[in-house]
Amino acid sequence: MRRILPSPADDVDLADAYAYPRRDWLRLNMVAGADGGTWLKGVSEGLSGKGDRRVFGVLRGLADVVLAGAATVRTEAYGPARPRPSWRELREGRPLAPPIAVITRRLDLDLASPLFTEAEPYARTIVITTERAPKDRREEAARYADVIVAGDDRVDMALAVAALSERGLGRILCEGGPRINGQLAAAGLVDELCLTISPLLTGGDAARILNGPASSTPLNLSHVLEEEGFLFCKYTREPN
Ligand SMILES: NC(=O)c1ccc[n+]([C@@H]2O[C@H](COP(=O)([O-])OP(=O)(O)OC[C@H]3O[C@@H](n4cnc5c(N)ncnc54)[C@H](OP(=O)(O)O)[C@@H]3O)[C@@H](O)[C@H]2O)c1
Repeated sequence: MRRILPSPADDVDLADAYAYPRRDWLRLNMVAGADGGTWLKGVSEGLSGKGDRRVFGVLRGLADVVLAGAATVRTEAYGPARPRPSWRELREGRPLAPPIAVITRRLDLDLASPLFTEAEPYARTIVITTERAPKDRREEAARYADVIVAGDDRVDMALAVAALSERGLGRILCEGGPRINGQLAAAGLVDELCLTISPLLTGGDAARILNGPASSTPLNLSHVLEEEGFLFCKYTREPN
Protein backbone atom coordinates (compact mmCIF):
# COMPACT_ATOMS: atom_id res chain seq x y z
CA MET A 1 0.00 0.00 0.00
CA ARG A 2 1.46 3.38 -0.99
CA ARG A 3 0.95 6.75 0.59
CA ILE A 4 -0.13 9.63 -1.65
CA LEU A 5 -0.57 12.28 1.06
CA PRO A 6 0.89 13.95 3.08
CA SER A 7 4.21 12.81 1.56
CA PRO A 8 4.47 10.03 -1.04
CA ALA A 9 5.91 6.73 0.25
CA ASP A 10 5.99 3.26 -1.28
CA ASP A 11 5.27 1.19 1.75
CA VAL A 12 3.22 2.26 4.73
CA ASP A 13 3.25 0.92 8.26
CA LEU A 14 -0.49 0.74 8.89
CA ALA A 15 -0.21 0.46 12.68
CA ASP A 16 1.77 3.66 12.64
CA ALA A 17 -0.53 5.42 10.17
CA TYR A 18 -3.61 4.62 12.27
CA ALA A 19 -2.21 4.90 15.82
CA TYR A 20 -4.78 6.54 18.12
CA PRO A 21 -3.65 10.06 19.06
CA ARG A 22 -5.16 9.79 22.55
CA ARG A 23 -7.21 7.60 24.85
CA ASP A 24 -10.66 9.07 24.31
CA TRP A 25 -11.11 9.08 20.57
CA LEU A 26 -13.95 7.94 18.37
CA ARG A 27 -12.97 6.67 14.96
CA LEU A 28 -15.47 5.82 12.29
CA ASN A 29 -14.41 3.26 9.68
CA MET A 30 -16.49 2.80 6.55
CA VAL A 31 -16.13 1.62 2.96
CA ALA A 32 -18.12 3.26 0.18
CA GLY A 33 -18.36 2.92 -3.59
CA ALA A 34 -17.12 5.79 -5.76
CA ASP A 35 -20.72 7.08 -5.91
CA GLY A 36 -21.06 6.96 -2.12
CA GLY A 37 -23.19 3.86 -1.51
CA THR A 38 -22.30 1.80 1.54
CA TRP A 39 -23.73 -1.55 0.60
CA LEU A 40 -24.15 -3.80 -2.37
CA LYS A 41 -26.92 -6.40 -2.27
CA GLY A 42 -27.50 -5.37 1.35
CA VAL A 43 -23.95 -5.93 2.66
CA SER A 44 -20.60 -4.15 2.47
CA GLU A 45 -18.53 -7.15 1.33
CA GLY A 46 -18.76 -6.40 -2.41
CA LEU A 47 -17.26 -2.94 -1.81
CA SER A 48 -14.26 -4.20 0.11
CA GLY A 49 -10.93 -5.55 -1.12
CA LYS A 50 -7.65 -6.99 0.12
CA GLY A 51 -6.23 -3.66 1.32
CA ASP A 52 -9.50 -2.66 2.96
CA ARG A 53 -9.62 -5.93 4.88
CA ARG A 54 -6.04 -5.31 6.04
CA VAL A 55 -6.87 -1.80 7.25
CA PHE A 56 -10.07 -3.12 8.89
CA GLY A 57 -7.98 -5.70 10.80
CA VAL A 58 -5.37 -3.20 11.96
CA LEU A 59 -8.08 -0.77 13.11
CA ARG A 60 -9.69 -3.51 15.19
CA GLY A 61 -6.29 -4.44 16.61
CA LEU A 62 -5.74 -0.85 17.73
CA ALA A 63 -9.21 -0.33 19.26
CA ASP A 64 -10.36 -0.77 22.87
CA VAL A 65 -13.89 -1.56 21.64
CA VAL A 66 -15.72 -2.03 18.34
CA LEU A 67 -19.08 -0.23 18.23
CA ALA A 68 -21.84 -1.15 15.77
CA GLY A 69 -25.55 -0.68 15.21
CA ALA A 70 -27.81 -3.69 15.62
CA ALA A 71 -28.75 -3.71 11.91
CA THR A 72 -25.09 -4.00 10.96
CA VAL A 73 -24.59 -6.78 13.50
CA ARG A 74 -27.62 -8.63 12.10
CA THR A 75 -26.97 -8.16 8.36
CA GLU A 76 -23.23 -8.64 8.53
CA ALA A 77 -23.56 -11.59 10.95
CA TYR A 78 -21.09 -10.21 13.46
CA GLY A 79 -19.12 -12.61 15.62
CA PRO A 80 -16.62 -11.69 18.32
CA ALA A 81 -13.33 -10.11 17.18
CA ARG A 82 -10.85 -12.99 17.16
CA PRO A 83 -7.30 -12.29 18.40
CA ARG A 84 -4.66 -12.23 15.67
CA PRO A 85 -0.91 -12.82 16.13
CA SER A 86 -0.29 -9.46 14.43
CA TRP A 87 -2.26 -7.72 17.20
CA ARG A 88 0.01 -8.86 20.02
CA GLU A 89 2.27 -5.85 19.82
CA LEU A 90 -0.59 -3.42 19.11
CA ARG A 91 -2.49 -4.60 22.17
CA GLU A 92 0.34 -4.83 24.66
CA GLY A 93 -1.09 -4.34 28.15
CA ARG A 94 -4.65 -4.81 26.90
CA PRO A 95 -6.92 -7.84 26.36
CA LEU A 96 -6.07 -9.94 23.28
CA ALA A 97 -9.09 -8.65 21.35
CA PRO A 98 -11.57 -5.78 21.69
CA PRO A 99 -15.19 -6.50 22.68
CA ILE A 100 -18.01 -5.72 20.26
CA ALA A 101 -20.57 -3.20 21.59
CA VAL A 102 -23.99 -3.29 19.91
CA ILE A 103 -26.46 -0.41 20.00
CA THR A 104 -30.07 -1.57 20.00
CA ARG A 105 -33.48 -0.50 21.20
CA ARG A 106 -35.50 -3.61 20.36
CA LEU A 107 -32.87 -6.11 21.54
CA ASP A 108 -33.75 -8.34 18.61
CA LEU A 109 -30.40 -10.10 18.76
CA ASP A 110 -29.59 -13.79 18.33
CA LEU A 111 -28.23 -14.56 21.78
CA ALA A 112 -27.37 -18.12 20.66
CA SER A 113 -25.00 -16.77 17.97
CA PRO A 114 -21.19 -16.81 18.31
CA LEU A 115 -21.20 -13.07 19.07
CA PHE A 116 -22.66 -13.97 22.46
CA THR A 117 -21.63 -17.58 23.02
CA GLU A 118 -18.05 -17.44 21.75
CA ALA A 119 -16.86 -14.07 23.04
CA GLU A 120 -13.96 -14.58 25.45
CA PRO A 121 -14.52 -13.39 29.03
CA TYR A 122 -11.94 -10.62 28.51
CA ALA A 123 -13.94 -9.33 25.52
CA ARG A 124 -17.52 -10.05 26.53
CA THR A 125 -19.97 -8.56 24.08
CA ILE A 126 -21.59 -5.35 25.26
CA VAL A 127 -25.21 -4.44 24.53
CA ILE A 128 -26.05 -0.74 24.76
CA THR A 129 -29.75 -0.16 25.08
CA THR A 130 -32.51 1.94 26.62
CA GLU A 131 -34.68 2.05 29.76
CA ARG A 132 -37.69 1.26 27.60
CA ALA A 133 -36.20 -1.81 25.90
CA PRO A 134 -38.32 -4.90 26.65
CA LYS A 135 -37.45 -5.88 30.23
CA ASP A 136 -37.48 -9.65 29.61
CA ARG A 137 -35.07 -9.26 26.68
CA ARG A 138 -32.81 -7.04 28.72
CA GLU A 139 -32.63 -9.68 31.45
CA GLU A 140 -32.02 -12.42 28.89
CA ALA A 141 -29.30 -10.36 27.18
CA ALA A 142 -27.59 -9.79 30.54
CA ARG A 143 -26.97 -13.54 30.79
CA TYR A 144 -24.78 -13.44 27.68
CA ALA A 145 -23.48 -9.88 27.54
CA ASP A 146 -22.69 -6.80 29.57
CA VAL A 147 -25.71 -4.53 29.29
CA ILE A 148 -25.36 -0.76 29.42
CA VAL A 149 -28.49 1.40 29.66
CA ALA A 150 -27.76 4.77 28.05
CA GLY A 151 -30.98 6.64 27.47
CA ASP A 152 -34.69 6.43 28.05
CA ASP A 153 -36.39 5.85 24.70
CA ARG A 154 -33.34 6.01 22.44
CA VAL A 155 -29.70 5.40 23.16
CA ASP A 156 -28.12 8.78 23.79
CA MET A 157 -24.85 8.51 21.87
CA ALA A 158 -22.95 10.84 24.23
CA LEU A 159 -24.02 8.73 27.24
CA ALA A 160 -23.04 5.54 25.40
CA VAL A 161 -19.59 6.85 24.51
CA ALA A 162 -19.07 8.13 28.07
CA ALA A 163 -20.11 4.73 29.51
CA LEU A 164 -17.57 2.94 27.30
CA SER A 165 -14.86 5.40 28.28
CA GLU A 166 -15.65 4.87 31.99
CA ARG A 167 -14.98 1.18 31.45
CA GLY A 168 -11.54 2.00 30.10
CA LEU A 169 -12.77 1.59 26.50
CA GLY A 170 -11.98 5.08 25.25
CA ARG A 171 -10.42 4.19 21.91
CA ILE A 172 -13.64 3.48 20.09
CA LEU A 173 -13.82 2.07 16.58
CA CYS A 174 -17.32 2.53 15.16
CA GLU A 175 -17.95 0.27 12.18
CA GLY A 176 -21.36 1.73 11.34
CA GLY A 177 -23.88 1.47 10.02
CA PRO A 178 -24.99 4.76 8.57
CA ARG A 179 -27.88 5.30 11.02
CA ILE A 180 -25.57 5.03 14.05
CA ASN A 181 -22.95 7.14 12.28
CA GLY A 182 -25.49 9.89 11.56
CA GLN A 183 -26.39 10.19 15.23
CA LEU A 184 -22.77 10.13 16.39
CA ALA A 185 -21.89 12.91 13.95
CA ALA A 186 -24.96 14.97 14.92
CA ALA A 187 -23.89 14.69 18.56
CA GLY A 188 -20.42 15.99 17.66
CA LEU A 189 -18.77 12.74 18.76
CA VAL A 190 -16.86 11.74 15.61
CA ASP A 191 -13.17 12.57 16.05
CA GLU A 192 -11.97 10.76 12.95
CA LEU A 193 -13.25 9.20 9.76
CA CYS A 194 -11.40 6.39 8.02
CA LEU A 195 -13.04 6.07 4.64
CA THR A 196 -12.16 3.50 2.02
CA ILE A 197 -13.33 4.56 -1.43
CA SER A 198 -13.81 1.52 -3.60
CA PRO A 199 -13.27 1.84 -7.38
CA LEU A 200 -16.84 0.82 -8.10
CA LEU A 201 -20.12 2.49 -9.05
CA THR A 202 -23.13 0.85 -7.47
CA GLY A 203 -26.17 3.11 -7.91
CA GLY A 204 -29.23 1.78 -6.13
CA ASP A 205 -30.57 3.14 -2.88
CA ALA A 206 -27.74 2.29 -0.49
CA ALA A 207 -27.29 4.92 2.22
CA ARG A 208 -24.25 7.18 2.33
CA ILE A 209 -21.91 6.79 5.30
CA LEU A 210 -24.19 9.00 7.42
CA ASN A 211 -27.93 8.44 7.36
CA GLY A 212 -30.07 10.50 9.69
CA PRO A 213 -30.13 14.01 11.07
CA ALA A 214 -28.31 16.70 9.12
CA SER A 215 -25.04 17.80 10.72
CA SER A 216 -21.85 19.61 9.84
CA THR A 217 -18.43 18.38 10.97
CA PRO A 218 -15.49 20.18 9.33
CA LEU A 219 -12.64 17.73 8.68
CA ASN A 220 -8.93 17.89 7.95
CA LEU A 221 -7.50 15.38 5.50
CA SER A 222 -4.69 13.59 7.39
CA HIS A 223 -3.62 11.01 4.86
CA VAL A 224 -4.51 9.27 1.61
CA LEU A 225 -3.22 5.77 0.92
CA GLU A 226 -3.78 3.75 -2.25
CA GLU A 227 -3.77 0.12 -3.28
CA GLU A 228 -5.26 -1.47 -6.40
CA GLY A 229 -7.39 1.62 -7.10
CA PHE A 230 -8.83 1.73 -3.57
CA LEU A 231 -8.28 5.01 -1.70
CA PHE A 232 -7.89 5.01 2.07
CA CYS A 233 -8.63 8.48 3.40
CA LYS A 234 -8.18 9.46 7.01
CA TYR A 235 -9.87 12.66 8.15
CA THR A 236 -9.72 14.16 11.62
CA ARG A 237 -12.21 16.62 13.01
CA GLU A 238 -11.06 20.19 13.03
CA PRO A 239 -10.50 21.35 16.60
CA ASN A 240 -13.42 23.48 17.82
N1 LIG B 1 -19.97 0.14 3.92
C1 LIG B 1 -19.71 -0.02 5.20
O1 LIG B 1 -18.58 0.23 5.66
C2 LIG B 1 -20.78 -0.49 6.13
C3 LIG B 1 -20.54 -0.56 7.50
C4 LIG B 1 -21.56 -0.97 8.34
C5 LIG B 1 -22.79 -1.33 7.81
N2 LIG B 1 -22.99 -1.26 6.48
C6 LIG B 1 -24.31 -1.61 5.93
O2 LIG B 1 -25.26 -0.74 6.52
C7 LIG B 1 -26.50 -1.42 6.70
C8 LIG B 1 -26.92 -1.29 8.14
O3 LIG B 1 -26.83 0.03 8.55
P1 LIG B 1 -28.08 0.88 9.05
O4 LIG B 1 -27.69 2.30 8.96
O5 LIG B 1 -29.29 0.42 8.34
O6 LIG B 1 -28.24 0.43 10.56
P2 LIG B 1 -27.24 0.46 11.83
O7 LIG B 1 -26.81 1.86 12.08
O8 LIG B 1 -26.22 -0.58 11.70
O9 LIG B 1 -28.24 -0.03 12.98
C9 LIG B 1 -29.49 0.57 13.15
C10 LIG B 1 -30.10 -0.08 14.36
O10 LIG B 1 -29.38 0.33 15.51
C11 LIG B 1 -30.27 0.54 16.58
N3 LIG B 1 -30.31 1.97 16.86
C12 LIG B 1 -29.98 3.00 16.04
N4 LIG B 1 -30.07 4.16 16.69
C13 LIG B 1 -30.48 3.86 17.96
C14 LIG B 1 -30.73 4.62 19.11
N5 LIG B 1 -30.56 5.94 19.15
N6 LIG B 1 -31.14 3.95 20.23
C15 LIG B 1 -31.29 2.62 20.23
N7 LIG B 1 -31.03 1.84 19.18
C16 LIG B 1 -30.64 2.46 18.06
C17 LIG B 1 -31.63 0.03 16.13
O11 LIG B 1 -31.57 -1.35 16.46
P3 LIG B 1 -32.84 -2.23 16.87
O12 LIG B 1 -33.61 -2.34 15.59
O13 LIG B 1 -32.26 -3.53 17.30
O14 LIG B 1 -33.55 -1.49 17.94
C18 LIG B 1 -31.55 0.25 14.64
O15 LIG B 1 -32.41 -0.61 13.92
C19 LIG B 1 -26.27 -2.84 6.28
O16 LIG B 1 -26.74 -3.00 4.97
C20 LIG B 1 -24.76 -2.99 6.32
O17 LIG B 1 -24.32 -3.96 5.43
C21 LIG B 1 -22.03 -0.84 5.62
